[in-house]
Formats: sequence, C-alpha cells, structure tokens
Amino acid sequence: MKRAIYPGSFDPLTLGHMDIIVRSARIVDELVVGVLNNSAKNSLFSLEERVSMIKEMTADIPNLSVASFDGLLVDYMKEINATIIVRGLRAVTDFEYELQIAQTNHVENPDVETIFLTTSLQYSYLSSTIVKEFASYGGDISKFVPERFIDRIYQKYGHSRKTV
Ligand code: PNS
Repeated sequence: MKRAIYPGSFDPLTLGHMDIIVRSARIVDELVVGVLNNSAKNSLFSLEERVSMIKEMTADIPNLSVASFDGLLVDYMKEINATIIVRGLRAVTDFEYELQIAQTNHVENPDVETIFLTTSLQYSYLSSTIVKEFASYGGDISKFVPERFIDRIYQKYGHSRKTV
C-alpha cells in the first residue's frame, strides 16, 4: 500500500492546492495532507484553522486524511509510514527549490521519493502569498480560494466582501 504525504503551509488552502489534492488522491492508495506547524512563520491562520479548513474541503475523499506535523518532514513520514511526497510544480521558478528539497529528503531517507504534479494551467500563477496580498487590500479572491473561505480570509484583514 502506497501512503503519500502532500506537505505544505496551506495558509490558506487555495484552489491550486485543491487541484493537486484531488488529482494525487486518485494516484496513490492513501494521501495524508500534512500541514506544517511553522511556529517561526507568521501565519494568517492558526494550525487548527488550517487543518479544519482542509478537512472541510476534503471530507468526501475516502482515501485522504489531514494531519499536522512539526520538525523534519522525513521524520514525520517515518512515523506515519509514508514513502511518497507529493508536490505541485507551477512554473520553472518552482523547480530549483523543489529539486533541492526533493534531493535532500531522498538523501536523508532513500526510501522517500518525491513526485511532482504540474498544476492545472488555470492555477499556475496562484500562491497563498498572492491570495493574502490581494485579500489584505480587499481585492477579489473569488477565483483563488474555495468560496466558503472568502469571508474568513477577509475577516483576518478587517475587510468584508464587496457586493456588486
Ligand atoms: O507550503 P510550502 O511552504 O511550500 O511547504 C514547504 C514544506 C512544508 C514542504 C517544507 O518547508 C517542509 O517540508 N518543511 C518541514 C521541515 C523540513 O523537513 N525541511 C527540510 C526540507 S529541505
């Protein structure tokens, strides 16, 4: 049985992340979405919020679970018996960083393999950072994140959704 982890900060989960989640869950036997407890990073959403937002969006995927982890990814993978890391590649700019992480993780544990899914074209420009930047100015984020998160994200910046 192949257990994979899709690790990330997911601050917040975007439609680009959802695309990778849905597609990778079709490929592997079991997918764990692993939310990094990045205490050093100033995250917009707490760890609990990020985990529960992903759970809300993935409840209907039977071979998927959501968990949080801290420390090294390869150590956490040993703990949960996962051998595959899933990452999304948006553009060539992602490649260098992703290659470095993938190679390092493989050296740390040769049983660990990273597989990359190319993001669907319509999300190739998308990142949580861009979403936060737009939302902080009250910009339209409806094409970037699941509909049900829009108000929650705006609230973090003291904005409300503009009605047309
Ligand atoms: O959402 P992100 O920031 O692109 O995710 C990065 C993530 C979580 C995959 C990466 O930072 C990670 O695996 N962090 C855990 C610590 C670790 O194992 N670092 C070594 C990788 S070189």
